Amino acid sequence: MSHLLEVKNLKKTFLNKGQQVTAVDHISFFVNRGECLGLVGESGCGKSTTANMILRLTEADAGEISLCEGDPEEGAQEKNVLKLRGRDLKKYYQEIQMVFQTPQDSFDPRCTLGDGIMESMLNTGMSRIEAKSRMYELLEKVELAPELAKRYPHEVSGGQCQRAAIARALAVEPKLLICDEATSALDVTVQAQIVALLNKLKNETGVSILLICHDLALVQHMCDRVIVMYQGKIVEEGTPDEVIRHPKEDYTKLLIRSAVL
Ligand SMILES: Nc1ncnc2c1ncn2[C@@H]1O[C@H](COP(=O)(O)OP(=O)(O)O)[C@@H](O)[C@H]1O
Ligand SMILES: [Mg+2]
Repeated sequence: MSHLLEVKNLKKTFLNKGQQVTAVDHISFFVNRGECLGLVGESGCGKSTTANMILRLTEADAGEISLCEGDPEEGAQEKNVLKLRGRDLKKYYQEIQMVFQTPQDSFDPRCTLGDGIMESMLNTGMSRIEAKSRMYELLEKVELAPELAKRYPHEVSGGQCQRAAIARALAVEPKLLICDEATSALDVTVQAQIVALLNKLKNETGVSILLICHDLALVQHMCDRVIVMYQGKIVEEGTPDEVIRHPKEDYTKLLIRSAVL
């Protein structure tokens, strides 16, 4: 397998009430093509800051992020993510997409879900007719009834809205989908359905997924590999089974004990 995204020595410090907080402390990891990588750790360990730096929503203090473009067999090119500007940055946002914790955050409350899903496709220059037909295809893919296209975000359940947010994210055929606690705000049964959906979409589309959560049990169902973060550092890395059965770090043992596996 070849790397799609590579993060090297990434660092971010915040000034919090006059004190320097190192949210992300020189972390390095990679995401392979077509794989689901879990990023787990307790609240405040730096997961979202990491995601936000990959998405260029938060500026990194130091380090490198590279996205590998094109077919690895035919001489793929590395994109220096932290240096992207203008049109190149816009293009990057088609290659990488995000699903947030609160599904409603992915949509403008004044627009219908259908328009919300179509928006990103129209931004790439796709015609309205094509975007519309693709929007209905996407609704079917995420197992939502076509009628939901006309509803507003507040008129559907959290699970339905998250399905629509996933459809919106996949609309531009990204290479990497970052899910930051995408199921944490949902009921347990709905959580399981969304995880099953993500799994299905991963297999169907080959999209790579960075699944950020604080729940090792969830990661076990879904991820090919997992990295564990603690106080801004990566303290463990392996397959979910390796990490759960043979945790090396005390912190991981605690995380396992608190999870319902
Ligand atoms: N914009 C910010 N300003 C100041 N401190 C922040 C900011 N964002 C995150 N932090 C701090 O950085 C640390 C990591 O936060 P975060 O990445 O959100 O953790 P997680 O997503 O793992 O819960 C925390 O101590 C948090 O308080
Ligand atoms: Mg977070």
